Amino acid sequence: MADTGHPLPVVVLISGRGSNLQAIIEARDRGELPVDVRAVISNRADAAGLDIARRAGIPTQAVEHTRYADRRAFDIALQTAIDSFHPRLVVLAGFMRILTPEFVSHYAGRLLNVHPSLLPKYRGLNTHQRALDAGDTEHGATIHFVTTELDGGPAVVQGKVPVLAGDTAATLAARVNAIEHAIFPLAIGWFARGRLQWKHDHAELDGQPLTRPVPYPA
Ligand code: GRF
Repeated sequence: MADTGHPLPVVVLISGRGSNLQAIIEARDRGELPVDVRAVISNRADAAGLDIARRAGIPTQAVEHTRYADRRAFDIALQTAIDSFHPRLVVLAGFMRILTPEFVSHYAGRLLNVHPSLLPKYRGLNTHQRALDAGDTEHGATIHFVTTELDGGPAVVQGKVPVLAGDTAATLAARVNAIEHAIFPLAIGWFARGRLQWKHDHAELDGQPLTRPVPYPA
């Protein structure tokens, strides 16, 4: 989609702390990210990130998964909540729920996620401990389009950090989290400016297929 010069309507989904949400808001406020964050929605009413949104004057909503009989019913409620804000991009910023294929298909090509590993390594949970257990010397985070394959959609940009002697899962997670704050606004900015597109099995940046994610730092 071409750059229209208007901020891109975005809805951000969170489950917890919201530091990636904070990074997105800060990049927007610095004038680096042409997005209109229409709403922040959480599956947990007590998510700390909802306070970040409220302080920034962004509408918030809780759609609690515990109130729904099954995953499908929850996803239908979530989709209804999201679509009431008419976003052109939905951002999963630490949203810790597996989504149904129906939900993912509905947002095909306009659903971006941050995953705390150098995908395709370590899909799923406990990525930092798994990188430590494997003796990896580098680790990181990936921004990718979401498809029905868990953490398997086309990767867009990947930020690497070193694994240091004495690292614990917590120290490594903090280092990875910091690089997420750089690469998520970067990828969202590309999308908002019409530079980034989803082409089913790959992503395209500036009309060129990405055969591998863009490395960050370059
Ligand atoms: C991030 O590390 C993300 O990769 C993972 O959950 C964390 C969310 O952090 N899926 P925050 O809520 O954005 O601070």
